[in-house]
Amino acid sequence: MSTYRIAVLPGDGVGVEVTPEAVKVLKTVARGTGASFEFEAGIVGGAAIDATGEPLPAATRALCEKAHAILFGSVGGPKWDDVAHEKRPERGLLALRKDFDLYANLRPAACYPMLVDASPLKRSVVEGTDLMVIRELTAGLYFGQPRFREALPDGSERAVNTMSYTSKEIERVARMGFEVARKRRHHLTSVDKSNVLVVSQLWREIVTRLGREYPDVTLDHMLADNCAMALVARPTRFDTIVTENTFGDILSDEAAILAGSMGMLPSASIGGRIALYEPVHGTAPDIAGKGIANPIAAILSAAMLLRYSADLPKDAERVERAVLDVLQHGYRTADIRQEGTKLVGTAEMGDLIARALEGMY
Ligand code: IPM
Ligand code: MG
Repeated sequence: MSTYRIAVLPGDGVGVEVTPEAVKVLKTVARGTGASFEFEAGIVGGAAIDATGEPLPAATRALCEKAHAILFGSVGGPKWDDVAHEKRPERGLLALRKDFDLYANLRPAACYPMLVDASPLKRSVVEGTDLMVIRELTAGLYFGQPRFREALPDGSERAVNTMSYTSKEIERVARMGFEVARKRRHHLTSVDKSNVLVVSQLWREIVTRLGREYPDVTLDHMLADNCAMALVARPTRFDTIVTENTFGDILSDEAAILAGSMGMLPSASIGGRIALYEPVHGTAPDIAGKGIANPIAAILSAAMLLRYSADLPKDAERVERAVLDVLQHGYRTADIRQEGTKLVGTAEMGDLIARALEGMY
């Protein structure tokens, strides 16, 4: 088998701690399958700003260019809060998304049976939740032009961002939504704000039109504010959700609560020439450096890499089963700790999952 190159960009904060655990698991897969993975590390975000002054140095970009997939940690932190806007750590991640045209961000949120009580929501609400948020990732408010700040004659200031979508940008992510729904429970909810925004009116028209090509998928539309409520009131009504960039950013954080903790949520950013896999949680500065962060989101992101990029779906399932197995045996990191469970740190959780996985080959 030819060598499969993975660019590893841990970034900042807990990204530095959880990413090696995902690599550990991928190395276990390589040993089990005989697949040949090559890992090459690069700097991004605040770490890259400290070293080079740039959130995405040319060397890191070049490393990603020649990789088959990118395994990403997280970027940002209080240390870089005062750097100029266009040089913030987050710009490194946004540049990767835009430059590689990773327009579809898949964020699954499932409530594992043994973590039902880890969620602050009632068991009767979260039990059985299994949904997928597909967030458009390369357009909308995040990238729309014009975008600027200006001084006004009276000495005050004005700032402008633009929510812009072309019909092509909507159609390609909506198509991804239908295709993903088809592999799940055949139900797609398109989320917009068409009662207010013209962008959303176009969004809704295009999604509706495309829906005719997918008669086997039940399509419904929901306004973003109503969706925010429904996600915590009746999350089991959702299967696949497709929505624009900013709505998806907000709603996917909310969906994380359904899974018990942000530390459980993986993501895949796909559609472009290569794909990027990252945990949904950020750098978590409050717990960074303590060895207590939950590596499961990073490890499940590696499972998504196996499924969507490396064409190793059976091994993706193995990794997911290994995670369940370790949770089933009562091991928990601090974020999902409950009475009667065994508290473990980041590396220990990674070791346990790798060991469980090893037993499956
Ligand atoms: C996310 C994050 C990023 C975003 C930040 C770090 C730029 O919140 O991936 O959800 O806003 O997209
Ligand atoms: Mg976010």
